[in-house]
Amino acid sequence: MADDPGTKPLRSREWFGRQDSYGFIYRSWLKNQGHAAEMFDGRPVVGLCNTWSDLTPCNGHLRELAEHVKRGVYAAGGFPLEFPVLSLSEPLMRPTTMLYRNLASMDVEAAIRSQPMDSVVLLVGCDKTTPACLMGAASVDLPAIVVSGGPMLSGRWQGRRLGSGTDVIRFKEAVAAGEMSLADFMAAEAAMSPSAGSCMTMGTASTMASLCEGLGVALPGNGAIPAVDARRRALAFASGVRAVAMARERLRLSQILTRAAFANAVRLNAALGGSTNAVVHLLAIAGRLGVPFTLDDWDAFGRGVPTIVNLMPSGDYLMEDFFHAGGVPAVLAAIADRLDLDAPTVTGQNLGAGLAGAAVHDPKVILPVDAPLRAEGGIAVLRGNLAPDGAVIKPSAATPALMRHRGRAVVFEGPDDLKARIDDPALDCDATSVFVLKGAGPKGYPGMAEIGNLPIPKKLLQAGVRDVVRLSDGRMSGTAYGTVVLHIAPEAAADGPLALVEDGDRIALDVAARTLTLEVDAGDLARRRAARPPFVAPQTRGWEKLYVEHVLQADRGADLDFLVGGSGDGVPRVSH
Ligand code: FES
Repeated sequence: MADDPGTKPLRSREWFGRQDSYGFIYRSWLKNQGHAAEMFDGRPVVGLCNTWSDLTPCNGHLRELAEHVKRGVYAAGGFPLEFPVLSLSEPLMRPTTMLYRNLASMDVEAAIRSQPMDSVVLLVGCDKTTPACLMGAASVDLPAIVVSGGPMLSGRWQGRRLGSGTDVIRFKEAVAAGEMSLADFMAAEAAMSPSAGSCMTMGTASTMASLCEGLGVALPGNGAIPAVDARRRALAFASGVRAVAMARERLRLSQILTRAAFANAVRLNAALGGSTNAVVHLLAIAGRLGVPFTLDDWDAFGRGVPTIVNLMPSGDYLMEDFFHAGGVPAVLAAIADRLDLDAPTVTGQNLGAGLAGAAVHDPKVILPVDAPLRAEGGIAVLRGNLAPDGAVIKPSAATPALMRHRGRAVVFEGPDDLKARIDDPALDCDATSVFVLKGAGPKGYPGMAEIGNLPIPKKLLQAGVRDVVRLSDGRMSGTAYGTVVLHIAPEAAADGPLALVEDGDRIALDVAARTLTLEVDAGDLARRRAARPPFVAPQTRGWEKLYVEHVLQADRGADLDFLVGGSGDGVPRVSH
């Protein structure tokens, strides 16, 4: 099975096509795994980049899924070789997986570039594993296709749906308000995670898996097929088949991830009511490819796109319901007039071709465009003297009455201060207060943790308050909700104006006008700045030190400055 005539030889031939001692070594050692000589005859080598880990339960089934990818690769005449990369476990890693997203992307980039492969299948699931793998693969720019692990089955408990993450927050608030016993809280634990797979709300994992369809880097169905549904395995098989074809076609990631693809993904995110975390991830992926795509594009492309997917945390249902209602293809079809259907995809056809047959099978879950969950589903990008480089809010998960609000600041200087005082009965606050958290950004935390939806003080919960305006330089979980302004840039630790806010300052939020204003005059702010000691990074070493010294702000995707861009798929010099 030789290379296509007239094309450059496959990259893997630099290893396996050699008739010298190097070729001997490359082939001989692999043969200790029982690979037959035919595997080295010039057929495409497909790398399976696997984020499986026992410590990332959301990805715990990916080795099994990889076997189905391999079947597809073999069936199409390719040679699959699976390799592990750093996995990122949202539920277990401390202080936050986001601290390690860029590290994992470096791992992926180095693993792909240094080894013999002509295309790569990215096996991902839990939140950061998807952007990390796409960022790394983008910097190499080989043909690449995403296979997500898929969401868990719906949680059910005491006759009601139970959504990953979203209901943890609700239950925590209910316990604090005295409306739920601790025994019931603990009993719900096993019911919330009833099968293999990722969070089954429209959290970050489901958002990113779905956006991969909108971006064109995954096959139709990737977003919503449940992890344990046999059709997830069939999708893995089909992705293996396509990975072989993509290697032959030399269909690179950069040919798919164009500005049009990102615009489509932003519009899809609005329709889904997707996670705010997608903002930083898509900006970082685009940065690896040099695609002109900015924070303001998030606002511009998403404007006027309604949220039509009725899933938690914005709505009522879960990913299993979404799959049976038609999944991502049905949503793309519903908003087709706002998309660039000519955008190329990993199928070898354009986005529009993948929508043939797409239909809504349950209008309670995927609502009509003219009767949406929220008329304005796009992520709103706010600016003002408090966020000169931008901040974001997810209107679909916010309280409409709070989207225009003016209140008195209650300031927490950092996460420790927040934990120490938020439930202090003496905390001077009410339902109109604006709660401000500093020190949750990329440098400050470090790692831009998901604590931006700071908890509502117990005394307000007990008074029946269920949402207040909150501001921070951190992120929030895709499963979270509330009137929460996130990703304020520059962050407090980068000497942003957020660092200067004091208790009692007036802050005005106007989402419709896209403004966030600290109503303190410039002279006072200058005096506060002069009196403020500069941020001193905590004593760190190793990766954390590298991260804090080089991380970019949220409006640049929180990538490391020296990782922006890529080095391509050139074959490094030999090792011996
Ligand atoms: Fe892993 Fe939600 S915690 S997908």
